Amino acid sequence: MIHGVFGRPYVALEKYLDLEALEALDDEICLGLAEIPVDYTGGSHRSMQIMPASRTEDAHVDYGEIIAAMDPAAYATFRSLAHEPASLPDDPGAATFGEEREHALSRRQMLWLEARFGVYFPWKVYLEMIPNRTWEEKSSPDGKSFTRLAHTFFPRTLAFVKSLPFLHIGRCNLMGLASNDHGTVHRDGVPADKPEVDHFITFCPRGDKRLYLWDEEKLQKSPVTGRAYWFNDSDYHGVDADPFFRYSIRVDGVFRPDFLATLQTDLTAPAP
Ligand SMILES: [Fe+2]
Repeated sequence: MIHGVFGRPYVALEKYLDLEALEALDDEICLGLAEIPVDYTGGSHRSMQIMPASRTEDAHVDYGEIIAAMDPAAYATFRSLAHEPASLPDDPGAATFGEEREHALSRRQMLWLEARFGVYFPWKVYLEMIPNRTWEEKSSPDGKSFTRLAHTFFPRTLAFVKSLPFLHIGRCNLMGLASNDHGTVHRDGVPADKPEVDHFITFCPRGDKRLYLWDEEKLQKSPVTGRAYWFNDSDYHGVDADPFFRYSIRVDGVFRPDFLATLQTDLTAPAP
């Protein structure tokens, strides 16, 4: 099933936000992406066990599974490509690697995993504008700030993000998919563990990223459309493939109470 937000599969936010700036932001963002180094993300959703059973094959080659099965020579190469090889154990053992795990992957490790083992990284453009160490801290502003690169290359985007109806922001990242890649279906939280819906806004300046929610009971997609939206990220979600590059920016934080109240009033009002 899809748990949704306020009784809806997702919340379309276009009418609540001033999106006039998005066209200019698209120009700034595309130019910025040509100028700066970016990371990959995704690539281990199956081994993280955050995919629905019916869609696990969509993950193709998963780096969590690959690292766990590496022979000593391959692991030595993998370790040598880390930011700080000495910080990795001598053998993988019970260590965990990659997003939200003990040892983050370096860009060199990602490229090697892709080239040597065919690992599929769904998001080949990933830029953290406010770096976060763990998922749990994403809504907190404590000790964080926009990066120097973000200030330098995305000043208008930062100004727009700061204008969004948050009390504070704890995370802001850009996620892009290369032509023909799909975003593997996964969920960011477990509904039973986290009944409340985390606050975030995703904006897609061109409105061309085909995000969908996935109902694992009905085995059905439910499209999320528009240039700005909020959804329950404990619902399974994925991105359909398209033959061109697409991106969106997700901003996490805590909504202003007046904004949240407006949404709640509008979305839970009985039909006239
Ligand atoms: Fe997600």
